[in-house]
Amino acid sequence: MARPLLITGCKELLTLRGGVPRRGAAMRDPGLVRDGAVLVRDGNILAAGTRVRVARLSMARGAKKLDLGGRVVLPGLVDSHTHLISPASRAADYEQRIAGATYEEIARKGGGILSTVRTLRRTKPAALEIRALAALRQFAAHGTTTLEAKSGYGLDSKSELATLRSLGELHQVQRLDIHSTFMGAHVVPSEFRGKADAYVDFLVEKLIPCVALSGLAEFCDVFCDRGAFTVAQARRVLTAGRAFGLVPRLHAEQLARTGATRLAIELEAASADHLEKINSAEIRALASSNVVATLLPGCCFHLGAPHYAPARKLLDAGAIVALATDYNPGTSPTLSLPMVMSLACSQMRMTPAEAIAAATINPAYSLRRHMRIGSIEVGKYADLAIFDVEDYREIPYYFGVNHCVMTIKRGEVVYLREGT
Ligand code: NIG
Ligand code: FE
Repeated sequence: MARPLLITGCKELLTLRGGVPRRGAAMRDPGLVRDGAVLVRDGNILAAGTRVRVARLSMARGAKKLDLGGRVVLPGLVDSHTHLISPASRAADYEQRIAGATYEEIARKGGGILSTVRTLRRTKPAALEIRALAALRQFAAHGTTTLEAKSGYGLDSKSELATLRSLGELHQVQRLDIHSTFMGAHVVPSEFRGKADAYVDFLVEKLIPCVALSGLAEFCDVFCDRGAFTVAQARRVLTAGRAFGLVPRLHAEQLARTGATRLAIELEAASADHLEKINSAEIRALASSNVVATLLPGCCFHLGAPHYAPARKLLDAGAIVALATDYNPGTSPTLSLPMVMSLACSQMRMTPAEAIAAATINPAYSLRRHMRIGSIEVGKYADLAIFDVEDYREIPYYFGVNHCVMTIKRGEVVYLREGT
């Protein structure tokens, strides 16, 4: 058995220990331990608590030592909504929006998602993977240790399958864990223009069975919104996916209120994401379900849209709230969960403790991985994000500058800021 590693110097250790998932008042208790320590062996947590208690354990005898020098330590961050693989930025769309065009106008003229689809289809998987690997290094540098990643910029068999194969490859060749989602129902591709139902037939009859039977994805997601897919179409896609073991997720109520949240509840989806346009009855329904409300404030920030999702109402009603980057070239080109936490606190009035629960244990639950990640507890992976701040509230407080100095994945340092 490998020699254990004793990690000390945790001025604040936020364990997030306790019940899963977190709702209401439980989201405001980060399980804070002052002068904390974590004992790790073979990538797993053997003990976590105060330094005095952990260092005295017989298991800690002869351990290697890592002194973090008085930093704030969180569970490795969990980003449960990303579009990791894309071929290029959409800086031109960004400039057009600044000049006054809206996201949907650009999309209707063949820009937006379809322009990314055209470029992706022309790009070799190796080139896409190099770009994604660079992004993954940045995710690690901002404290993320696990992420979900969607296909959805291929929209034909060849490119969707290639994207999912690339995600599987990326999961193998670097240290962060990647959980794949099939999102062939992102928008209707141009070859099916005006024939959305025929495209849904193709997904349901051909592509979903192929994806599921080749084990290329765990989840299935649909952009159920104005300009994308209707609730009826989303129901067909997600039901077909579920019959093959793909757990549903949904892009819901972002551009327009469509009823996608109700569908997420009906299908016992893992997560309903966005929710900018959700109404009060839907907030209540979501709060009494186990569907995670995943908020993506990076989109409103980047699109310059004034109406952030009603985080406060969702939290106060008792919904399971998570935060994610929605890393994608069109609406949220950020891979920084700390930045998303800053937006959540300043723009949506989440407290720092709520934002941290929403970026760790609750997204772990939405990825069905809460038994192994999302908190610093015995038996879980030693996934840690270390910030050079005095007080955990400073993580969202300081925005636009990265204060993550070290990231540990299964006991291995996967990012270390120079000079630390
Ligand atoms: O989550 N809304 C749909 N999908 C992405 C945007 C993708 C894009 O514009 O490329 C989202 O916001
Ligand atoms: Fe998205």
